[in-house]
Amino acid sequence: MKISCIGLTKICFLLSLSVCVVFFLFIPLMKHGYLKAQPLLVCNITGSNRYFQSPLEVARLSPRSHNQSDVLQEWKNYSLQEGGLKDSPRVTNPLQIGDIFIAVKTTRKYHKSRLDLLLKTWISKAKEQTFIFTDWEDQELRQKAGMQMVNTNCSAVHTRQALCCKMAVEYDKFVLSSKKWFCHLDDDNYLNLWALLNLLSEFPHNADVYVGRPSLDHPVETLDRVKGDGAASLKFWFATGGAGFCISRGLALKMSPWASMGNFISTAEKIRLPDDCTIGYIIEAMLEVKLQHSNLFHSHLENLPRLPQNSLLQQVTLSYGGPESRRNVVRVAGPFSLEQDPTRFKSVHCLLYPDTSWCPHKKPSS
Ligand SMILES: *[C@@H]1O[C@H](CO)[C@@H](O)[C@H](O)[C@H]1NC(C)=O
Ligand SMILES: *[C@@H]1O[C@H](CO)[C@@H](O)[C@H](O)[C@H]1NC(C)=O
Ligand SMILES: *[C@@H]1O[C@H](CO)[C@@H](O)[C@H](O)[C@H]1NC(C)=O
Repeated sequence: MKISCIGLTKICFLLSLSVCVVFFLFIPLMKHGYLKAQPLLVCNITGSNRYFQSPLEVARLSPRSHNQSDVLQEWKNYSLQEGGLKDSPRVTNPLQIGDIFIAVKTTRKYHKSRLDLLLKTWISKAKEQTFIFTDWEDQELRQKAGMQMVNTNCSAVHTRQALCCKMAVEYDKFVLSSKKWFCHLDDDNYLNLWALLNLLSEFPHNADVYVGRPSLDHPVETLDRVKGDGAASLKFWFATGGAGFCISRGLALKMSPWASMGNFISTAEKIRLPDDCTIGYIIEAMLEVKLQHSNLFHSHLENLPRLPQNSLLQQVTLSYGGPESRRNVVRVAGPFSLEQDPTRFKSVHCLLYPDTSWCPHKKPSS
């Protein structure tokens, strides 16, 4: 049998057509990195599936259209009012708790087990400026926290996208507030408000400050996908979100091209890093402001019993191991036993605020 010349041309045409179709179908996927290898670096501190990517979630979280000129205008206003952001004289009026915006990140499954303890302890001393960022409209929590509870509408799964979504809402809410500092905490942190005030008072609030505990003992390295062509590598430090960190307002406003109105999610998508890592990337790599390393912030990843008891009340944040590592708690000779107070937060709180109604009161000494 002979195959005619025309027949061969037809087959060739159909073959190349299908190759083209397959090629064009895959271009958008490649752009989103689905066909690429997993992230290039080790930022994955919690060991969970923070890198999991679901195409649906990416689509849902794609950046909103926005206009940044308002945020940039605010930044210009701010730097003018404060007499410039750099090399300015020390601020003389003392920092107040009311100057700090405190964001606590949580999720529906921890409203009872973790958040109740925080509401009972340190949040009760900083109600007005503490905001709880969660993913569920919990009527019980709404009763307790009122407008301080923010339903981010982000997904409740523990993925990189969901965490970045919450961070983005925290950032936008802070920018709308008129507070001088942004501090981010997790729902297993005790925040010592006095220690935080002491620490932040060290910095002029109008300087560019990013302070927290570095996650690793070396900087993270990644390819430069945002600024450059992706060929050069970048090194930067970041503060671990699980220990808490703070950013001054001036610096936070400068972050807006990469962080405001959904840009945070697209920045995190580009570099494929977790939320806390992305903050470090924007500040250290994009804005070239250095992280101020502080060992006053503590996460559950540390060996907490080793914190010296005599300096416990000077630490800015504390944490606890949770059900998987119940023994990983700070050692404190507080009024409650380990059974009564497994996280030790109540004991710490009663040492800091002995007048609290539920703290055991010392009998007056005769
Ligand atoms: C953003 O808004 C300002 C004023 O509100 C306008 O002048 C500017 O053209 C807008 N920019 C974009 C990119 O839409
Ligand atoms: C910045 O200052 C100008 C002039 O005082 C004012 O009209 C504008 O509303 C301010 N913008 C913001 C975002 O604060
Ligand atoms: C979440 O959704 C509710 C209901 O649509 C809305 O009122 C609220 O503003 C949303 N929250 C955020 C942070 O966008």
